Amino acid sequence: MLEKIKEINSEIERFTIETKEQLEAFRLAFMSKKGKVSTLFDDFKNVAAEEKKLVGQELNKLKNIAQERFDSLAEVLQNGSSSIGADASLDLSLPAIPNELGTRHPITLVKERIIQIFERMGFNVSDGPEIEDDWHNFSALNFPENHPAREMQDTFFIEKNPDMILRTHTSNVQVRIMEQGKLPIRSIMPGRVYRNEAISARAHCMFHQVEGLYIDENVSFADLKNTIYHFVKEMFSKDITVRFRPSFFPFTEPSAEIDISCLICKGKGCTICKQSGWVEIGGCGMVDTNVLDNCKIDSKKYSGFAFGMGVERITNLKYQIKDLRLFTENDIRFLRQFTAAE
Ligand code: PHE
Repeated sequence: MLEKIKEINSEIERFTIETKEQLEAFRLAFMSKKGKVSTLFDDFKNVAAEEKKLVGQELNKLKNIAQERFDSLAEVLQNGSSSIGADASLDLSLPAIPNELGTRHPITLVKERIIQIFERMGFNVSDGPEIEDDWHNFSALNFPENHPAREMQDTFFIEKNPDMILRTHTSNVQVRIMEQGKLPIRSIMPGRVYRNEAISARAHCMFHQVEGLYIDENVSFADLKNTIYHFVKEMFSKDITVRFRPSFFPFTEPSAEIDISCLICKGKGCTICKQSGWVEIGGCGMVDTNVLDNCKIDSKKYSGFAFGMGVERITNLKYQIKDLRLFTENDIRFLRQFTAAE
């Protein structure tokens, strides 16, 4: 008798169902008047007197087990689960296996921080095409016909139409918003730019710039300096100093390179700043009157400044990254380091 109880017990445990009909089959097999458990109760009278107590207990247990199994099968069936047998041992209180989230790219983090700083100064964000014509990338910006930047070594030309190129800087967006003629302009233009350079630790054929443009009446070089000072202190730290080094760009006059005191050695001289104590982060200047004329802005009434900065350069300095190629290799061990850094 005890043997039989055991057998039926394991039969009950192994019983799996997927449909209502199978649940009914379970009920008929184990719980109905003619079912296996009831039959055992019928046989109970034949059990020897000294065994009755134990067998009786076991039989009652079996009856409860059948009822519990029935209830749990019915419940899972109602909740729409399809396979119950194997899942009966599933521990639903175990914590879920977490979905791994990606992290934001360091270039994106820095670009958005730059945007945030300038937005707080009243700049809005403009966008323009990466495939550009000669006029917006060069001619309107006062590049002479024979300027070296137009040569093959710097510019990617579109084969089918030599007038079309991949923009070499974000200054094309300057031209496009000036041409729209809505003044004053106070805008920054983040974006991807392309130059025909061999890929190495220090150069890439694709990188990011943020250009800035401010055009209004009475804009002066002092306004430009103040804007850059504020940006550098917000982006890096208050104790960083800024130096404007005279330079040349066809579209600004006067022009300057923007240097900041080296973040690593604090200006004392190290390998990052090549012992000079200064690192360059971009170029700037007062918008050349030829450019204003090209864009049909009255250069007698309006003046403005422009600046352009390399996002990779700023990211490298901020996080002390020494190889530009890391940004495009998609190595998750590199990329994961930047979640909490901002
Ligand atoms: N367009 C320049 C470059 O790519 C940077 C720049 C922008 C300089 C605006 C001055 C003013 O190097």
